[in-house]
Amino acid sequence: MTSTNPIGVFDSGIGGISIWKEMVHYLPNENTIYLADSKNAPYGERSKEEIISLSVKNTELLLKKNCKLIVVACNTATTNAIDYLRSNYDVPFIGIEPAIKPAALNTKTNAIGILATKGTLSSDLFHSTSQKFTEGINVIETIGEGLVPLIENDQINSIEMEHLLQKFLQPMLRQKIDYLVLGCSHYPFLIPQIKKIVGNKITIIDSGEAVARQTKAILERNNILNNSTTKPSHKVFSNADIKTLARIVNSIDTSASVAFLNF
Ligand code: DGL
Repeated sequence: MTSTNPIGVFDSGIGGISIWKEMVHYLPNENTIYLADSKNAPYGERSKEEIISLSVKNTELLLKKNCKLIVVACNTATTNAIDYLRSNYDVPFIGIEPAIKPAALNTKTNAIGILATKGTLSSDLFHSTSQKFTEGINVIETIGEGLVPLIENDQINSIEMEHLLQKFLQPMLRQKIDYLVLGCSHYPFLIPQIKKIVGNKITIIDSGEAVARQTKAILERNNILNNSTTKPSHKVFSNADIKTLARIVNSIDTSASVAFLNF
């Protein structure tokens, strides 16, 4: 594997673009290939077996495209499938998990909110991390049911979105959370809408930057950080309608190509 090979990134759809964005900024020399498996979204409602098999499908396609490292830009796929991927494939994998630790360490009100998918909140990995850091803390876990399909369908500013967010966030506000952890890579796209409801007193945490930093560290450790100054190539593929995806991707990097691929 050489350092100029691309980094592969996958998610159940548009969500992982919130992670890809941080990577493109933090690792400006890297070539990337992104797979949006929107046809099979939401992953969060699927069984562990299904999530593993979809993660395998995405991984194999990225390996066929010669990726040197894979970022699982999906909390649901990380918490359910990353152990399987790491034990079955040779490339390094970087995962994304709800950032419970910084919220638990810094809360002053002793109450934190976690918004994530059913698949993430019911996973063993999430439970063990949560248990490790949140003793004595009131953790309000809420399944963001319905949010991912609205984001995938470009309904971020809809009334339905506003209703769902009110329904999920008001109980957290009543319990006086001061940290809100976004445990799904789709949710950072909702930060402006969430802020309208929770105001500025609550700290919202997502894991994008941490994933980019960790990716750099692992590339360095494996001697595959791309130091070439040739303009990097970014290829984004989706197996569903690409309109919304293309708009979001090109608002981040105008040179990225976005195309339909049946995978
Ligand atoms: N974006 C994904 C996550 O971070 C999953 C959303 C879904 O497909 O349910 O969990």
